[in-house]
Amino acid sequence: MLFGEAVERVTGNLTKVGVVRCGRREKITTMEKTGFAIAIMAAGKGTRLKSKRPKVLHEIGGQALLRHVIAAARTVVPADRIYCIVGHEADRVKAAVAPTGVKFVMQEEQRGTGHALQMVKAYFAISGDALPEHLLVLSGDVPLIRPETIAAICELHLAERAAMTILTAVPQDPTGYGRVLRVREGGAEVTAIVEQKSLAPDQLSSPEINSGIYCFETKELFARLDSLSTNNAHGEYYLTDVAAMMVADGLRVVAVKAESVDEVLGANTIAEMMHLDAAMRLATARRLMAQGVTIFRPETCVIDAQVEVGADTVIEPYVQLLGATKIGVESRVRSYSVVQNSTLGDGVLVRNGCVLDGALVSDLAVLGPYAHLRPESRIGEGAHVGNFVETKKVTMGKGSKANHLNYLGDAVIGAGVNIGAGAITCNYDGVHKHLTTIGDGVFVGSDSTLVAPVTLGDGSYVAAGSCITEDVPAGSLALGRSRQVTKPGWAAKRRTAMEAKKNS
Ligand code: UD1
Ligand code: CA
Repeated sequence: MLFGEAVERVTGNLTKVGVVRCGRREKITTMEKTGFAIAIMAAGKGTRLKSKRPKVLHEIGGQALLRHVIAAARTVVPADRIYCIVGHEADRVKAAVAPTGVKFVMQEEQRGTGHALQMVKAYFAISGDALPEHLLVLSGDVPLIRPETIAAICELHLAERAAMTILTAVPQDPTGYGRVLRVREGGAEVTAIVEQKSLAPDQLSSPEINSGIYCFETKELFARLDSLSTNNAHGEYYLTDVAAMMVADGLRVVAVKAESVDEVLGANTIAEMMHLDAAMRLATARRLMAQGVTIFRPETCVIDAQVEVGADTVIEPYVQLLGATKIGVESRVRSYSVVQNSTLGDGVLVRNGCVLDGALVSDLAVLGPYAHLRPESRIGEGAHVGNFVETKKVTMGKGSKANHLNYLGDAVIGAGVNIGAGAITCNYDGVHKHLTTIGDGVFVGSDSTLVAPVTLGDGSYVAAGSCITEDVPAGSLALGRSRQVTKPGWAAKRRTAMEAKKNS
């Protein structure tokens, strides 16, 4: 949707809107100049979740509900025009979203959605923040709302010159939601919003639900908040009652249907939350597939919303891609791997069952099966980190290999290095961590222990089974083990002696 064009069309007054030329299109970069602010209701406890965690901090798609809503709001106005209404576990909620730069409005006692907006009104009265002409109200527990939809509701609100514009939907089962009653079918005008428990018998079948997302003329809203009453089934101040009050005063209240039902579904129970989670992850998988990524059995994969994957990369079933993970083109992540906050280059192969957290993997590297790359593992181009190898805070140069059963922690490893099976760095003395430095082209024999701090010079060799406690100069061989003693015939003699003892 071309929001910029639409606003231009509906307002006919470009001085009111912030537009920027980009190609032949005109696009709104900010609605600040149109006088919009956004209030997000996030103070409720979420009793129906039966959880200690505040509802808006429950996660779907790997992010708190409220984070999703703030992200959508941020596409419309800058963070300092977003007012988050917090109350239940306010400190926890604030701490979780403070980095976004939004403002907070305190609602100590949660006496309903109408009461939440009363707090916003009070905040504007004392804060000195300029009163916005239009106030968009979002619900912290309706997280799939898309920026396009927020734009559409603002557009309609301006076009209709409405006092209140309500975003609605028609889900399969409307039970539990407030219902939006229109003046006549097909018309934009609304008579009232009726909560589930207040529905008259003939209204029970009305299918159009209130999403909990609205656009208001701020002055008209604020003028009516003090007249709300708690004379209803929940004994709360219902924001939804404002609709009928405005209609009674001859103001225009209109509704617009969301394009997809899913994006306005609320999350009142864990089951509903997981339904949204599945919807969001499927949407993420679809986005990636549309960009040329192959995802086998996407319904089995857990992919967070911000994950980026390049074209021609293949994701096998039961893979998790979490957090800020980025994967380049033509890579492959095999089944049962969990990749979190990691960056993988092009043509990388992650074999089955790998666990990556905070790792940086260069092009053409091969990992696993069952490799564990912990934070600050930097794997060089074409390097191999094989079965049951654990790395932590390691830089591994181009083409180096640690293929079997290694622990490599706090190490700088050059290019073309071969770390033999079972070799490990001893990086911890019980108090401090120490560095192991391994030069280019070093060969570390199997089952060696490198006791840090220690340096192996370029091209040096470490004999298998060595315990290396001293630096090894470039080009030398280090043997840190006792010499082999072989006793010919010893085993046969012992066997004979044992047999004789047994028979005596
Ligand atoms: C609300 C609407 C209902 C709509 C539904 C959509 C009312 C009265 N009803 O019902 O018509 O169909 O949303 O999801 O508004 N909150 C506060 N302070 C409070 C109470 C709630 O900030 O005192 C916040 C909650 O944290 C939540 C949002 O407002 O994010 C909605 O509250 P909730 O109690 O979930 O309302 P619903 O019963 O879902
Ligand atoms: Ca709700």
